[in-house]
Order: sequence, then C-alpha cells, then structure tokens
Amino acid sequence: MGFATDAIHIGQEPDPSTGAIVPPIYQTSTYVQPELGKNKGYDYARTAHPNRRALERCLAKLEGGQVAYVFSTGMAAIDAVFRLLRPGEHVIVSQAVYGGVFRLTTKLLVDFGLEFSFTDTSCLENVTRAMKPNTKMIYVETPTNPTMIITDIAAVARLAAEHKLTLVVDNTFLSPYFQQPLALGAHIVVHSMTKYLNGHSDCTGGAVVLARPDDAEKIYFIQRSAGTGLAPMDCFLVSRGIKTLAVRMVQHNANGMAIAKFLEAHPKVKRVLYPGLASHPQHEVARQQQRGFGAMLSFDLGGLEPARRLLNNVKLCSLAESLGGVETLISLPAVMTHVSMPPEVRQQIGITDGLVRLSVGIEDVEDLIADLDQALAKV
Ligand SMILES: Cc1ncc(COP(=O)(O)O)c(C=O)c1O
Repeated sequence: MGFATDAIHIGQEPDPSTGAIVPPIYQTSTYVQPELGKNKGYDYARTAHPNRRALERCLAKLEGGQVAYVFSTGMAAIDAVFRLLRPGEHVIVSQAVYGGVFRLTTKLLVDFGLEFSFTDTSCLENVTRAMKPNTKMIYVETPTNPTMIITDIAAVARLAAEHKLTLVVDNTFLSPYFQQPLALGAHIVVHSMTKYLNGHSDCTGGAVVLARPDDAEKIYFIQRSAGTGLAPMDCFLVSRGIKTLAVRMVQHNANGMAIAKFLEAHPKVKRVLYPGLASHPQHEVARQQQRGFGAMLSFDLGGLEPARRLLNNVKLCSLAESLGGVETLISLPAVMTHVSMPPEVRQQIGITDGLVRLSVGIEDVEDLIADLDQALAKV
C-alpha cells in the first residue's frame, strides 16, 4: 500500500466489539486478568496499552523499521537511545544539534560516564576525524535545528558500517513522508512526535524506530523500566494527526518554498537557510535523499534588535517555541530553543543573535507573506 493509505489504516482497524471506525482510547491504568498467569495481551499501562501499540505499529511501517516505541516526549525517546550505551563509550553528534540534546548530553549523560564529541557531520572527514577507539554511535540530526545543515545519511551509514557503529538519525524536521533514514542505512530513527507527526500542537511525544531486533528489545526494556511510554490520550492524538501527515506535508512543503523565495528576495534579509533553495550549501544532497524540503527555515536579520522588531510585529505568525504544527510559528533560537548552548558554541555553529526560525504552517501562503512583509517593513 502507499504511504497515505498506511498512515490512515495501520494500527487503526475498527474496534471488533462495536465496529467503531476509530479505535477507543483505553484510559485505564490496569487490566483485569481472567485467571492467575493469564491476560488478554495487556496487564499494566506503563508496560503497554492498545493505543500505544497501535501508534507504534503505524510508525514502524511508515519509517520502514522492524519495531517502534513511543515516549512521553522526544527527549525521553532520545535519552532511551543513549541508554543503549555503557559508561566509557563515545558518541559523535551533529554539531548544530537541537539545544535539548546538547543539554541532555553535556549536562546530564556525561555524569554517567558517556563521552560526546560534536562535529559538523555534513563533512565526512570531520566524522572520521572525531572517531576514537571507544566510539560506538553516530547521532545525526538532518536537517539541523535551526541551521538547516544536511548530512548525507547514506555516506555516514557506510562509514558507520565500516567501523561497526550504530547510526541514529533524528527525522523530526522532515517526517517519514519526506525522508526515510532506515532505507539509507541508519539503524535507529528518533522523532519528536510533538512536531509534524502530531501536527496540531496539542500534545508532546517521542518515538524510537528500530531496524535491528536486538536494539528493539533493549529499548523496550528501557521504556518499561523507566516508565516513559506515551499515555493513551496522547497516543490517540498522534495517531489522529498521522492520518493527515501526507496531505499536510505536501502543503507545508509548498508554503515553505514560497516563503523561502519571498525572504531570499527581501532587501532586509541577509541570508535564508532552506535546503530547497539552490543557494543552500547542501541543496544537492537534500534533493537526493529527501522527497521534499519541508517547511522549516531560518533567516538572518543581522542582529538581535532587528530580529526583536520582527518578532514583536508579526500578527499571524505566532511567537512560540516548537514547530511542525498547522499554524506558523516564529522564534529566535539564540534566546529561546538554544539558550542552553554557551554563546561561543552558538556563534561557532552559526546560531547568530539575528537568526530567526520559521516553522511554516499550512495557512494560505499569501496571508503569511503579507504578515512577514508588514513586520519586515518595521525592521
Ligand atoms: C529536532 C528535534 N529533536 C528533538 C526534540 C525534542 O522533542 P520534545 O520537545 O518532544 O522533547 C526537538 C524539540 O524541539 C527537536 O526540534
């Protein structure tokens, strides 16, 4: 079946007892056992529940994985993946990674003996140079948040295979509709489902999708031991969001491209970072490994003051953290999502004080352009 068909039907079979087309929300913590030692597939909601299983089946199919597990947030999912490692082991991480991953690794997991090196994974020589005898994993975000750097997943996967390393890819920005890292040789995909998979900004969630049964068994053990699985209502919301993922992504992509072109032609904008533009340094790699360019973009206004004026003058775009919803969100990473990065690191990786991030929604694009135009006039 095609992607949109799978997104609508996998895990969403009508309820056998009533015929309800939408599977019910199993808002229960425990399951009655008919006799000692027997159950009907579920015993306690921390371990598993039907809404979680349904969503996990759908996600595994959409990403082309063996199994998926869904978590309370993207960060809980990413934390579970790093727990596959043992103290003393080393991970190579994309340099311009999401600020929360930078905080988790450098402020928390280092205290448990894990080692992390940050490097620009868009350059293969950097990845090779960062390798150490204790390196076990490469963690890639592509495109990166918010610098939109693209890593060639297949090329890094070949390197990972050569050195027997696990390759993890954060696929949040594109969703499986536009990019399928497992098919390019990655072993694990992570998501913040809070973003495009849910798509409606009404719950948080995370996912780990696995290609190898061995990793899957360990991730499930970590999830049920730590109790970080996603709750029934939130699984229902993400499952509902996924049913329209294909149509939403098509519209996100069209709006993203139109706004990127508008901004690139605007005299007050110094630079636009959008992989769909020919001016993007990894435009060719993006064209090859992605089915679309998505709707995340960043642009530089040259300083904090002009950025502040823009953010304070937009009317339709909402000033907010997060991304991937139907509504357009605008933010200033240096002060918001990436504030946990030291200023010198932000500077080094190109998160300048004037770099504005847009998560382009699926409103009428003329309305979005008119809003940005009037706000830019006040800059
Ligand atoms: C690329 C990326 N990965 C992971 C996360 C973390 O996800 P969550 O906020 O659901 O914990 C985010 C959040 O913004 C993100 O942008």
